[in-house]
Amino acid sequence: MRAPLVVANWKMHGTIAEGRALASAVRDGLKRPRGVEVVLCPPFTVLPAVAEVLAGSAIAVGAQNCYWETSGAFTGEVSPAMLAELGCRLVIVGHSERRQHLGETDAQVNLKVRAALAHGLAPLLCVGESADERRQGLTFNIVEGELRAGLRGLSPEALGHCIVAYEPVWAIGTGVNATPAQASEVHGYLRGLLSELASKEIAQTVRILYGGSVKPDNAGELCREPEIDGGLVGGASLQAQAFVGIVKKAAGRGATPKE
Ligand code: 13P
Repeated sequence: MRAPLVVANWKMHGTIAEGRALASAVRDGLKRPRGVEVVLCPPFTVLPAVAEVLAGSAIAVGAQNCYWETSGAFTGEVSPAMLAELGCRLVIVGHSERRQHLGETDAQVNLKVRAALAHGLAPLLCVGESADERRQGLTFNIVEGELRAGLRGLSPEALGHCIVAYEPVWAIGTGVNATPAQASEVHGYLRGLLSELASKEIAQTVRILYGGSVKPDNAGELCREPEIDGGLVGGASLQAQAFVGIVKKAAGRGATPKE
């Protein structure tokens, strides 16, 4: 049984003081999270403060992006080694906002996935179709292309250390979430592909999160779907009460966290 995982993507929000306050409120609201894993991904500037606030708690820190080299003349970039030093457990890779606004390509996403794994970070690979692509019936083609390209060349074992997030672009920040049935259908398809790329056994251990307008009042029905292993939460993760509410709904699935 896969333990549910809820990841907060704070995106480009917050000062150090605000991040500290938000992380403290989430930590205090989730004293002993049971049956669920929780990771907060603040902006780089806020990461050390949040890591300090969460030290000794059951909540982990992660990052929103990384570069693929370990160090060197890459002005403005942050390497997975630097993130590992801060205690990050995972790094979000290939978020649609980076693909869309920064021109991040599948090839770059693949390099980032490999670099994260090489430094002991779990890559959280994001895939998802736009509204137009869904209208044209291309949803499965798009997510398949992004998944295959993002995971290209990985061994089955390495693949088992990855996490996938299905984030339909039309659901991000719009207040319109995918229905549990819509998400479940895509998650099932992605798991089928993972079986083909690794093995059925390994595919069964990979968490596939749903992201896109996850809120406390839809998290329960989404996470009840056997194929939905938790959420990648944007807007609602900026309010401690809302985020804690989502985590509690996800925990209701009742699995024991994976070590
Ligand atoms: P929202 O929860 O604000 O829709 O954002 C989802 C997202 O992009 C998380 O990575």
